[in-house]
Amino acid sequence: MPKELLPIIDRPIIQYAVEEALAAGITKLVFVTGRTKRAIADHFDAAPELERALEDAGKSDLAAAVRDTLPSHAHAVYIRQRAPLGLGHAVLCAQPAVGNEPFAVLLADDFIMPGTNSANPTASLREAYAASGRSQILLQDVPPSEAYKYGIAIPGTEPGTIAGLIEKPAQGTEPSKLASIGRYVLHPEIFDVLAQLSPGRGGEIQLADAIDRLARKGRVGAIMLDGTRHDCGSHPGYLGAIVAAASRHPEIGPEFRALMAARLSAPEQVD
Ligand code: G1P
Repeated sequence: MPKELLPIIDRPIIQYAVEEALAAGITKLVFVTGRTKRAIADHFDAAPELERALEDAGKSDLAAAVRDTLPSHAHAVYIRQRAPLGLGHAVLCAQPAVGNEPFAVLLADDFIMPGTNSANPTASLREAYAASGRSQILLQDVPPSEAYKYGIAIPGTEPGTIAGLIEKPAQGTEPSKLASIGRYVLHPEIFDVLAQLSPGRGGEIQLADAIDRLARKGRVGAIMLDGTRHDCGSHPGYLGAIVAAASRHPEIGPEFRALMAARLSAPEQVD
């Protein structure tokens, strides 16, 4: 099963990213997938038999949830990346569908829960892009011992800008503690840069390397994450995403918080 389809309570991880994009006003969704990820397109497809069975059983709320995996005002394009040549290459694969327009990139396995009073990160990046005309990345402070897992920003002299982005720096060489996390709003000028890049870290075409080139020309801004991020590619991160979503869930939230509180106060007595 693609990890993007692992459930967080009752919806797959990727559904949350799609809802974030839709809430940010995006209606054209381009999924760049690979050989093992056909189930993603199936998830967003219509499921008339299941809908009818749920309606017949009187479960119209569940039928609506099945129908609304992709609302009718949105449309999806599926593109197959024929070989895993890197995130930058995956973004370049989307160029025919994106065209010469600014666009957002959401890495679905970075599950983000915005702060209680803040907009979703894609909407905030979109706003920063509109105000500046520059590509925008999302940053989060990470401890130096974790920096090697991320693209790390070189802070710019102008506030809200970056001067460079170093993909997965070797330990001890990180230029800051500002890690780029999985949300971007990019100017289409990035496609020309991506098309000319040589493979970088891990022999892959890295999106961070293209952003670095644009940043060195003063073309990249950044905003800080307001909220929490959970890397669903790791077991603790996946569990953290479930805990974050369940704690704030309108129906099961109160019961879940009580369960967590009971477990924390007497871990040996609760099974
Ligand atoms: C990718 C990017 C990296 C970024 C990270 C955020 O790395 O290449 O720059 O910091 O996502 O999650 P990956 O996690 O795919 O190795």
